[in-house]
Amino acid sequence: MPEGALGQDLERIGTLPEIMLSNLVKRYDRTTVIKELNLTMDDNEFTVLVGPSGCGKSTILRMIAGLETVTSGEIFIGGKPVSDLEPKDRDIAMVFQDYALYPHMDVARNMSFSLRLAHYPKTDIQERVNRVAEMLGIVPLLARKPAQLSGGQRQRVAMGRALVRDAGTFLFDEPLSNLDAKLRGQMRAELALMRQRLEKNMIYVTHDQVEAMTLGDRIVVIHNGIIQQQGSAEQLYKKPVNKFVAGFLGSPSMNFFSGLLHDEEGQFLVAGDDYSLPLPHEWRTRLKDYKSNEVIVGIRPSAFSHAVVNDGEIHLDLPVVLSEYVGSQSVIVSRLGGEQILIEVGSDTPLGTKKSLTFAIDPRNIYLFDPHTETAL
Ligand SMILES: Nc1ncnc2c1ncn2[C@@H]1O[C@H](COP(=O)(O)OP(=O)(O)OP(=O)(O)O)[C@@H](O)[C@H]1O
Ligand SMILES: [Mg+2]
Repeated sequence: MPEGALGQDLERIGTLPEIMLSNLVKRYDRTTVIKELNLTMDDNEFTVLVGPSGCGKSTILRMIAGLETVTSGEIFIGGKPVSDLEPKDRDIAMVFQDYALYPHMDVARNMSFSLRLAHYPKTDIQERVNRVAEMLGIVPLLARKPAQLSGGQRQRVAMGRALVRDAGTFLFDEPLSNLDAKLRGQMRAELALMRQRLEKNMIYVTHDQVEAMTLGDRIVVIHNGIIQQQGSAEQLYKKPVNKFVAGFLGSPSMNFFSGLLHDEEGQFLVAGDDYSLPLPHEWRTRLKDYKSNEVIVGIRPSAFSHAVVNDGEIHLDLPVVLSEYVGSQSVIVSRLGGEQILIEVGSDTPLGTKKSLTFAIDPRNIYLFDPHTETAL
C-alpha cells in the first residue's frame, strides 16, 4: 500500500474506531482473493460480512485474527496496527467455520480450555463457564462429552468456547452453518439477544442473507473480494447500489429483465416486447445523465399485488405458468420481458385455474440498472 496512506492512518490513531481494514490485499500465487478492501467497524458494533461462497469472507476473518498473512495493507485494532502481532496478542476470539471440539473433554472442560491454558483462577473459570452456558442454554449439557450432543448443541459449545474469553472482538465464521432450518432460526434469535447483553465488537460471516439482515447493525456485501455496498439492512434492501446487491438480498430474489427507456409525448416509460411500464416523472431528471436507453429492469417478487389498482399504480396482465403454495404466501411463476419471473402474493389470493392474472405495481418499486456496469440508475 502507498506509504502516504499508512502515514495518514497512523496520524489518526486515537480517534480511530475499533477495527479498521486499510487497503487490505490478499494474494495466493497469482490469484488476488481480496482486492484493496477498506472497511471501518465502530466500537461495539455487530458487523456482518455476507456474500456467496468463495468471495473471500473467511480469508478476511482469518487475516483479522492473524491466522493468515496480509499481502499488503494494514489492519488496525483499537487504533494499533496488528499485522505483526501473533494471533494470541490480538485480543480476539474466533468461532471457526469448521470447529472441532475436544472429544475426550466434557462440555465444561471444552469451554474452559483456553482459560485453563492461561492459568485463570478456578473460581473465575467456573463463574465464566456457567454464565456463558446459561446464555447459550447448555447448562444441562456441561457434563456431557461431544459425542453425546446433537450437531446444534455442539455448535453452541463451540460458540461458548470463544465467548468465555475476555476478548474485545469476537469473530464468527458461519457459526450456524451446521444447523437445520428451525434450529438456525432459534439460534439466530438467541444470538440477537446475546448481542444485546454483550458489549463487544462482533464480526460475523455468513452467506445467508436472512441471517445477515436480522443480525447486523452494519451489513457488508462482498463479491469477488470486493465490497459492493455496506449499510443497514433497510438501506441495502431499499437502495441497492448495483444489480448484485439487489439480487443478493431478499428472498425470493429480485426479478430482472431488459428494457428500453422511452420519452415520448409527455410519457416517460420503460418497455420491452411484451410490456410497457410508465415511470415516475421525476425520474427524467434523475436519469438525464444516462446516455443509453438500454436498461435492466428489476422488480421484487413482493412488489406485485393482486388487488384493486390504486391511483398511480401500474397494472399488468401476466400469465400464470405455475403457482406454489408455501404457507403464508403463494409464489407464482410468470413471464415478463422475455424472462421467467416470480411473484409473491398472499396465500388467500384466489388463483383457481386462471391462465393469467392482473397485478398492480407501484412504479416507485421499479429498479433500473445499467446493463454494462450493472450499477443502479
Ligand atoms: N490457501 C489458499 N490457496 C489458494 N487459494 C485459496 C486459499 N485459501 C482460499 N483460497 C481461495 O480464496 C477464495 C476465498 O476463499 P474464502 O475461504 O475466503 O471464501 P468464503 O467467502 O469464506 O467462502 P465460503 O462461504 O464457501 O466459506 C476462494 O476462491 C478460495 O478458493
Ligand atoms: Mg468461508
